[in-house]
Amino acid sequence: MCGIVGYIGDREVSPILLNGLEKLEYRGYDSAGVAVYNNTGMHVVKSKGRLSVLSELLHGGTDLPGTVGIGHTRWATHGAPSDINSHPQVSDGGKFAVVHNGIIENYLYLKNHLIKRGIHFVSDTDTEVVAQMLEYYHQGDVLDTILKVASKVEGSYALGIICEEHPDTIYAVRKDSPLIIGKGESENFIASDIPAILMHTRDIYRMNDGEVAVLSKNEVEFYNHDKEKIEKVTERIEWDVDAAEKGGYEHFMMKEMFEQPEAIRKTISPRIHDGKIVLDDIALTVEKIKDIDKIFIVACGTAYHVGVVGKYAFEKILRLPVEVDVASEFRYRDPIITDKSLVIIISQSGETADTLAALREAKKHGAYVLSIVNVVGSTIANESDDVLYTWAGPEIAVASTKAYSTQLAMMYMIVLYMAEQMQAVSTEELNQYIADLESLPDKVAQCLEDKETIQYFASKHFNAQDMYFIGRNVDYAASLEASLKLKEISYIHSEAYTGGELKHGPISLIEDNTLVIAICTYQRLFDKMMSNVKEVKARGAVVLGILTEDKVGVQTEADHAFFVPKIADFMLPSLSIIPLQLFAYYVASQKGCDIDKPRNLAKSVTVE
Ligand code: F6R
Repeated sequence: MCGIVGYIGDREVSPILLNGLEKLEYRGYDSAGVAVYNNTGMHVVKSKGRLSVLSELLHGGTDLPGTVGIGHTRWATHGAPSDINSHPQVSDGGKFAVVHNGIIENYLYLKNHLIKRGIHFVSDTDTEVVAQMLEYYHQGDVLDTILKVASKVEGSYALGIICEEHPDTIYAVRKDSPLIIGKGESENFIASDIPAILMHTRDIYRMNDGEVAVLSKNEVEFYNHDKEKIEKVTERIEWDVDAAEKGGYEHFMMKEMFEQPEAIRKTISPRIHDGKIVLDDIALTVEKIKDIDKIFIVACGTAYHVGVVGKYAFEKILRLPVEVDVASEFRYRDPIITDKSLVIIISQSGETADTLAALREAKKHGAYVLSIVNVVGSTIANESDDVLYTWAGPEIAVASTKAYSTQLAMMYMIVLYMAEQMQAVSTEELNQYIADLESLPDKVAQCLEDKETIQYFASKHFNAQDMYFIGRNVDYAASLEASLKLKEISYIHSEAYTGGELKHGPISLIEDNTLVIAICTYQRLFDKMMSNVKEVKARGAVVLGILTEDKVGVQTEADHAFFVPKIADFMLPSLSIIPLQLFAYYVASQKGCDIDKPRNLAKSVTVE
């Protein structure tokens, strides 16, 4: 999705903006632009396409001198990707330049209102309305103007604003869209995300809804919507700068796949003391847990697939009914939620618009909301009754891998924590599950070791038109995620089906040499899966089986096999997904796809 960066200080601003925007490329974008002040006035340069196009226009920044400016990468919502629709958007009289993340929902009404008063619009964007309103309502005090405009616009926004009359100031305001301020020595920054400014400062202020920041080179002031000054404290970012870079891997996705053992360890280790799961960070009481009569798990995409595993795990261990929903459906389907419902929200970014709306819907009906989130201080984290952070670190590749693995680990922890509170399993069983959980990082590392086997297999099949993933129970949940990974980065059409569903339709698609990947790790239904493998082979399919290592040397129906360690049944997706993430990666790599930034996709989907 869109990215914002802004700078005010003594250094040349254009290279800083270009560099910051590059660090935000992972969010997905289709155009980019900057607005810079210098002694000849305010200058805007923007273009459709990759940042490299903008960089060429600016000769790497040297063509646009100045020490104050704002920059933006845009992911089109209102108006197609084009030079004119790119940000910054500038007001009719050229007084204000604005960069914007989010959506102004009442922009058409506001636009018509201004057109009737003679304002001339040039773009199709909702953002231009903000720039025009700023100039229209401006009577000298920019802060007053921003507060007035903020009171009239509806929707979500993170805005970076510069005004020609105040070339020594940057303004920032937000509602429902993330924005941070970076504090430096005689220089200050705005950004929609930390990596954009991490190479310059580690001290940041997080902005809350309705707050306005006024930045000069030496100072940052904050105001609330009543124009009262507010005091905020900086937060020190402890990430390694390397954590936001590729660290020697060809792609962020590969780096992040290999970070999975460590990320899982960081997520689970601080929460296991003396063999017991301790979730100190949540307020959910034993009484409340015992009162829960239904669990809803709600998320989008990969995070939703974690929810599908969660349903199998909760129902098996706790014997509590679980509904798992994609957030965009949940928010509109009138789910039967009561104050005895526990709603588990899963989101890496903590900003996904549909997931956030689902959370609000759940709260409206009195449910207790527990969220699993990666980005600290994100909106979903802030609005939940309880939040359990996954400690995956920044996930840059658009295709989620380490976030998925840490979300799964967190989900297992919640299941086992509640199982203990509800005395749903014996102490021996619980201890065995916790031991399995603790073994997860090493077992994931073991699966990653054999990447060459998968690389070789991918080199044989990267030309396929279609692929099918099949599995039963938790293996089906892993199939859903494996299929999504493949299609999103390699653009190969793929589907995931439960083994038992094949004969109800999809088997008609199987012909000679169709590749079927059969996940067969779930022991109880192994024989049933073997029957399904036989069925597709009889129609000419080539089958890769993902099997547990006790099947090494055993004659199975699969043509090829990849073996994963054994672990508690409901934790198997954490292992079976590893070769299939690698498979998606190597297929995409063989096809020459843009692995970290697949076409049409955005990392954080902050619009509906
Ligand atoms: C797929 C992927 C997406 C996200 C989905 C939810 O690889 O990354 O499907 O999982 O957009 O995003 P979050 O978890 O940020 O709410």
